[in-house]
Amino acid sequence: MTDILTIRRPDDWHLHFRDGDIMRGVVPYTARQFARAIVMPNLTPPVTTASMAAEYRERILAAVPEGVNFTPLMTCYLTDTTDADDLARGAADGVFTAAKLYPANATTNSAHGVSDVSKIYPVFERMEAEGIVLCVHGEVTSADIDVFDREAEFIERHLRDIVASFPKLKVVFEHITTSDAVDFVLESGPNVAATITPQHLHINRNAMLVGGIQPHNYCLPVAKRESHRLALRRAAVSGNAKFFLGTDSAPHLRGDKESACGCAGIFGAPYALESYLTVFDEEGAIDKFECFASLHGPAFYGLPVNDDTVVLERAEVEVPQSLPLAGNEIVPWHGGQTIGWRFVG
Ligand code: NCD
Ligand code: ZN
Repeated sequence: MTDILTIRRPDDWHLHFRDGDIMRGVVPYTARQFARAIVMPNLTPPVTTASMAAEYRERILAAVPEGVNFTPLMTCYLTDTTDADDLARGAADGVFTAAKLYPANATTNSAHGVSDVSKIYPVFERMEAEGIVLCVHGEVTSADIDVFDREAEFIERHLRDIVASFPKLKVVFEHITTSDAVDFVLESGPNVAATITPQHLHINRNAMLVGGIQPHNYCLPVAKRESHRLALRRAAVSGNAKFFLGTDSAPHLRGDKESACGCAGIFGAPYALESYLTVFDEEGAIDKFECFASLHGPAFYGLPVNDDTVVLERAEVEVPQSLPLAGNEIVPWHGGQTIGWRFVG
């Protein structure tokens, strides 16, 4: 039995840092475990230009603790009026690593998202030509579509056509939650990949709704039924290079989650690697963890893998019920539970 695991340092390919005091409070958790992270642009106002992204990157770098090497990889929030020249210049200057498609009103701070996906096809064409990765929040937002069907419906209404229209465009189907998404990624060409969060590997929708409403298990896309969770686990541990780590760590203060209208998002950053490794361990696939966490992402993005390593050891770790953040408190993913791995460093 493996009790100590040393792997190349991982990266987080989908992450929300926010801004201001919350950002300064959460950056150290991610920088402790990961060398790089794809930073989501859904601030208020959203990060829509290269200059906004460059300034945001500086604010993040100023929050990285002394002596820690961490590189934020910035993304451009696509809108109906995205300037393709600014995006291309930002990518050429090394400011943008990717651009993020939020269908308007799909999730937290997405009101400025794209109202009609076909409107930004000219931007996709430019991204395809320049080799800029497209990260997709894959949920339709029509009121007539059930929230549990929104991901599968997005594939049929939009994603199939995007992928067929731009065969060279690199597309990351973010935080997938369904077997439909797994199947779509598997049957697509090598330019289509997906991130998988720890929560969607651990919980199904019962964890949100049984025994009282559980706001700390609520995120978007919402967790689906058990058959979908099992499909995601098979994909994650398969060793297939199309699937890689993206926590979607999305901090919301405790009071904003435990509310009559609770925010969507799970704060996965503090125990992220421990959470994922528990799943790989349960699946008898510890040998596949390094490729999921540290190799597939850089390969897809065309970036080098990290030079240093991290160590995890088998140990009982009690995750605190809550953590102090920005003069307030936040509930971490697995808060109040015991997990079976410790991040050593
Ligand atoms: C994210 C957030 O809070 O920014 N929330 C979430 O539930 N995942 C947005 C997102 O990625 O959908
Ligand atoms: Zn997200």
